[in-house]
Amino acid sequence: MGRKFFVGGNWKCNGTGEEVKKIVSTLNAGEVPSGDVVEVVVSPPFVFLPLVKSTLKPDFHVAAQNCWVKKGGAFTGEISADIAEMLVNLGIPWVILGHSERRLLLNESNEFVGEKVAYALSKGLKVIACVGETLEQRESGSTMEVVAAQTKAIADKVSNWANVVLAYEPVWAIGTGKVATPAQAQEVHSELRNWFQANISPEVAATIRIIYGGSVSGANCKELAAKPDVDGFLVGGASLKPEFIDIIKSAEVKKNC
Ligand code: 13P
Repeated sequence: MGRKFFVGGNWKCNGTGEEVKKIVSTLNAGEVPSGDVVEVVVSPPFVFLPLVKSTLKPDFHVAAQNCWVKKGGAFTGEISADIAEMLVNLGIPWVILGHSERRLLLNESNEFVGEKVAYALSKGLKVIACVGETLEQRESGSTMEVVAAQTKAIADKVSNWANVVLAYEPVWAIGTGKVATPAQAQEVHSELRNWFQANISPEVAATIRIIYGGSVSGANCKELAAKPDVDGFLVGGASLKPEFIDIIKSAEVKKNC
């Protein structure tokens, strides 16, 4: 069975109420391939989750941008994934964890991200888990070592990968306009798949969706989508714009592969 194309929109810390309503109406009006062909998940800032959840067409799903590593309680400013608590209770099925902006700006370690992924999964959330190297790491030839260590820290805590999408997001490509070439993305995705084959199982290697993030746009998405191990995208800046619809449509490219 093929891996269903996945397009995530990470709105990051952007948007006013008015802007959010506009983005949602653009998404609702967009003519996109059916849910059999592409899975679409958008991730607004926490304060807009209920608004987006209640106004977005039901074919699209919603993700939180983070959640706490354990049950809720005295953790000022955090959001609990716990069942009967916040995200699951609101009907938010997805969460993004391990984004490089949190790893680098908020010092989230590989181990901490692994714990968060495991906890979120145990509470019934699906996880978009992000990995990726910095420019220095790429230039020193350690890209694969870095992303393998980030993935291993998740694997140390997680045994069922069915509800995980892995997002390869090279830090040097995020928000820079400097997109990885299709060959660069394919190389890392295929090596990650080999890593799953060698360290987890052939079944997980064959089925896990590995999506690319970093300056994806309406202009470059088709070429990237044509690569065999690119199973979709995690989109930042362009997910706030009408071109996000074009990125969703790039799922059609897989039909011709
Ligand atoms: P940009 O698409 O703005 O480069 O951001 C990518 C990203 O970080 C998605 O999570």
